[in-house]
Amino acid sequence: MPQDSRRNLIHRPRRLRRSQTLRDLVADVRLHPANLILPLFVAEIDRPQTIDAMPGVRQWPVDDAIAEIKRLIGKGLRSFLLFGVTPQGRKNALGNDAENPASPVLKTLRAARDAGLDALMIADLCLCEYTDHGHCGPLCDQPGPDGFQPVDNDAALERLATIAVAQAQVGADIVAPSGMMDGQVAAIRAALDDAGHHEVPILSYAVKYASSLYGPFRDAGGGSMSFGHRRGYQMDPRHSREWRTELRLDLEQGADMVMVKPAGHYLDVVAAVRAETDLPVAAYHVSGEYGMVEAAARNGWIDRREAHIEIATAIRRAGADLIVTYAAEDLADWLSDR
Ligand code: PBG
Ligand code: ZN
Repeated sequence: MPQDSRRNLIHRPRRLRRSQTLRDLVADVRLHPANLILPLFVAEIDRPQTIDAMPGVRQWPVDDAIAEIKRLIGKGLRSFLLFGVTPQGRKNALGNDAENPASPVLKTLRAARDAGLDALMIADLCLCEYTDHGHCGPLCDQPGPDGFQPVDNDAALERLATIAVAQAQVGADIVAPSGMMDGQVAAIRAALDDAGHHEVPILSYAVKYASSLYGPFRDAGGGSMSFGHRRGYQMDPRHSREWRTELRLDLEQGADMVMVKPAGHYLDVVAAVRAETDLPVAAYHVSGEYGMVEAAARNGWIDRREAHIEIATAIRRAGADLIVTYAAEDLADWLSDR
């Protein structure tokens, strides 16, 4: 290249990429452990149990879960999303074990409160881990057009209201309804307020798609359906605008924070939701998304650490304030030595 045209090159974006210090100076997307939420599975078992479909994830007995949370607090994690694993024998049509004070989630919430942990305990609020059929609410009597009994939306609302109050009573700091029932935020808000729990925020899974990427989770939590699918209540991934309706309804009903799920393959939706609301936006990097990274890393095809950091950064860049991720502990470790 002749000298002249070299001098004509006024704009050189590479100037700001010359050193780590410069790159750090100008980076505007940051990950911080305080913005991460770690899902935890609590179960009635004697010792922690690994989960085949989810490398690095375990089911925890209540006591060990508390010890685990204390350990993770030491790494800067502060928020934990609790899922309960129910023995088959205690599941029923209405999912009554969800409000059983002896169930692992309620026990863990109580133990966390009693221990005065400096952590936010977020209770997943859904029925699928407690119903014998595995759906996210009680079923209608008659089969619907899909050939099986659909979830009875309004019956589910009553159940969610009861369970939300039970969770708040034992110290849930936040409840997170994940069932995609119409009107669930309003029903839960009203029930919490009637019971005097007006201070408990609702983190609503406002925009949740019927995704193949939940497969490993259903193994981990024993939350598979005995028949059918969830496409009658979760959103169709082929919709590009429906998120707006779901978001608006949840905001009208009093959601305090809204979630988009899955995260990594739905960044367009994360960005759109971010632009539409000033409330905190969470994104759930789900089990199948996590599993893809783990599997590729195990095969030596990608660098596990770099991939997890990059994906979490991309979710933040799209506009999520909070990230629910099974890699939260590793991310906290990696961020502290970077
Ligand atoms: C159930 C629920 C699911 C997940 C969170 N809550 C599964 C589903 O909707 O079928 C998925 C989480 C994950 O895959 O990591 N309400
Ligand atoms: Zn559910």
